[in-house]
Amino acid sequence: MLILLACTTPGDSAPTGDSTADTALADGSAWYGDVETIVVENCAGCHADGEVAPFPLSTYAEAQPMAGAMADAVSARRMPPWKASPGCNEYRGDLSLSDDEIARIVAWAEAGAVEGDPSRASGATAPTSSLSRVDFDLPMPEAYTPGAAPDDYRCFVLEWPETEGKYVTGYQVNPGDRGIVHHVVLYVGASENAQLYRDADAAEAGAGYTCFGGPGVVDQSDAEWLGGWAPGASNGDFPNETGIYMEPGSVVVMQMHYNTSATDPVPDLSSVDFMVEDSVANPAYIQPWADPAWLDGTGMTIPANSEGTNHSFSRTIPFSFRVHTANLHMHTYGQTAKLSVTQGDGTEQCLLDIDDWDFNWQRTYVLAEPLTVENPTITVECSWDNPTGEDLDWGEGTGDEMCLGTMLLSY
Ligand code: HEC
Repeated sequence: MLILLACTTPGDSAPTGDSTADTALADGSAWYGDVETIVVENCAGCHADGEVAPFPLSTYAEAQPMAGAMADAVSARRMPPWKASPGCNEYRGDLSLSDDEIARIVAWAEAGAVEGDPSRASGATAPTSSLSRVDFDLPMPEAYTPGAAPDDYRCFVLEWPETEGKYVTGYQVNPGDRGIVHHVVLYVGASENAQLYRDADAAEAGAGYTCFGGPGVVDQSDAEWLGGWAPGASNGDFPNETGIYMEPGSVVVMQMHYNTSATDPVPDLSSVDFMVEDSVANPAYIQPWADPAWLDGTGMTIPANSEGTNHSFSRTIPFSFRVHTANLHMHTYGQTAKLSVTQGDGTEQCLLDIDDWDFNWQRTYVLAEPLTVENPTITVECSWDNPTGEDLDWGEGTGDEMCLGTMLLSY
C-alpha cells in the first residue's frame, strides 16, 4: 500500500478537455497509438493481476491513474528492473527502455495521460512465462512455515519421477507465497547422493532441512546447479536446444530462502514445473564462477567502514565451449559486478555488467546469441560498500557477502 500512496493521486493529471487530448495526440503522446505498446511489452509482464508487481498496468484504465508515478519510475530507471548495463552484450527479452521510450512515457504523463483513439490499439501483448510445455510439476512434499526469522534457508527434496535418463529443457518455479519466498535455487542431487539428501531431511523435524547456500550434505563443488528464481526473473525454456541431464534415481534439491521481515510467517507450498526430453542437441550444465578460496573464507574480505572494495577472480579454461546465459549474485552490500571473457586470442568480451547492483532484482540474462569461447580466461569481479563496523566475508547469511557468476555452458 505504501507504494500506492507514494504515487500520484488518481485524477491529478486527468485531461481537462478535448483540446488537451488533441494536442497530446498531435504530439503522439496518447495511450493508444503510442505508449500502450511500450507499457504492455515492458511493464505488464509483472504489472498484471497475480504477478509480482503490486498493481496492474495492462490497460489504459489501470495506467492512467499511475501516469505520474510511471514517469518518475522510468526517468529514474527504477523501472523496469533491468540491471544489465547497455553496451556489454545483448539479451533475449530485454525489457530496458530506450531514451526515446522514456521520453514518450514522460510526455504522455505530462500531457495529461490521455487515452487517444481506441481504434489505434496496438494489439501488443505482455511477455508471459516462456515454458512451452509442462511435463510434470514437482511440489514440495508438504507445506512449510518458516521458523527462523527474518531469514530461513530450507532445502526440500523433490523426488525425480523419471525412470530413464532425461534432459531438463526448461522449468518454471511457482513460488507458493510470494510475500515470503525471497529466492529459490534448484540443485541436481545426483542419484548416488540422493539417499544422503533424504537422510538429511529425515534427521530434522518438519518438512525439509536447514541449509545455507548450497544444498549441504555433499561438497559444494559436487552440488550442480539446475536453476533458480528471484522476483521478476522469468523462467522458461532453456535457450538454443540445451538441456541439463538428470539420471533416474536423482532428486532435485530445492533451496528456499524465506524472508519474513515484512510479513508474518505463513505456510508455503512452492513447486517447479518441468519440461524434459530424451535427448537434446546441446547437453549443457550450469557453471558457477568464483574463487574457490573465497568459499573457504579467505581472500574476499570487505573491511569494516569501507567503500568500493573490489575483488576479482580469473582463470583460464583450456577448452572451447559455448556460453548461453550469464548471471551474477551478490548480497545487499554489493555495488557493481561484472562477468567477462578474454578469448585465447586476446579478444575481450563482456557477458554481463551490472553497475548499480540491487539484491532484489536478480535474473539470468540469456545472451541473444550464444558466445563461442576458445581457451578463455573468465573473470568475475565485484565491488562493495561496507558501512558496518564489521569486516564482511563470503557466507550464506544476508549479512555475509558473495561474488558469484553463473553461466549455462555447452560444448
Ligand atoms: C520484472 C517485473 C517488473 C517489471 C517488468 C516492471 N515492474 Fe514496476 N514494479 C515491480 C515490482 C515488484 C514493484 C514493487 C516493488 C518495488 O517498488 O520495487 C514495482 C513498482 C513499480 C512502481 C512503484 C514504485 C516506484 O519505483 O516508483 C511503479 C510506478 C512501476 N513499478 C512502474 C513500472 C513501469 C512503468 C514499468 C515498465 C516501463 C514497470 N514498472 C516494469 C515489478 C516490475
